[in-house]
Amino acid sequence: MTAPVFHQRDPLDPAFWDERFARQFTPWDMGGVPQALRQFVAAAPAPLSTLIPGCGAAYELAFLAEAGWDATAIDFSPVAVAAGKVAAGPWAQRVLEADFFAYTPAQPVQLMYERAFLCAMPRAMWPRVAARWTELLAPGALLAGYFFFDESPKGPPFGISRAVLEGLLEENFDCVDDQPVGDSIAVFAGRERWMVWRRRA
Ligand SMILES: C[S@@+](CC[C@H](N)C(=O)[O-])C[C@H]1O[C@@H](n2cnc3c(N)ncnc32)[C@H](O)[C@@H]1O
Repeated sequence: MTAPVFHQRDPLDPAFWDERFARQFTPWDMGGVPQALRQFVAAAPAPLSTLIPGCGAAYELAFLAEAGWDATAIDFSPVAVAAGKVAAGPWAQRVLEADFFAYTPAQPVQLMYERAFLCAMPRAMWPRVAARWTELLAPGALLAGYFFFDESPKGPPFGISRAVLEGLLEENFDCVDDQPVGDSIAVFAGRERWMVWRRRA
């Protein structure tokens, strides 16, 4: 299947994502909650106050809320937010239109959930993403989710290398889990890992 022709070419502009959600061209969309997140939640000793940046359709929000977790999902694309509210059902008020770089959570974030957000950003933005993760997570808080490893210059998705990811995070985070992913969708298959990073004091 060939990709449709799009007018918006800048992934830093919400209109880029609006156009793709509106045309239902969302090859990153898993259509559900990935397994490693389910396992992470099942194993967690207590619910964590969670932020989902760049949530898209935000399937994870209802899953976390139903597990008793205080989760908020944000996205700067109004069309993505509308899709997220539909998927969130009774939790729709927890899906907010907001730019990750400007958003200030109402309460401390204990878990930042990552899926297809870092790789949605051109690589030049990554130091800003890592800086905001660091600002929003207090010592002991967690950054957990899926990291896409790839060297292709074209994107999104923009893949990262292990060395670059470590360069972004190792100053302020310790990697406490790093696993292959068994239920990847086609665009990420064989090239993503579930990782958990803990903010250092
Ligand atoms: C590739 S999609 C991934 C969506 C979702 N996380 C998923 O796994 O299906 C990237 C999402 O990040 C959002 N996004 C990109 N930059 C953003 C920003 N600065 N603030 C909030 N959302 C942003 C886009 O609107 C888009 O919905």
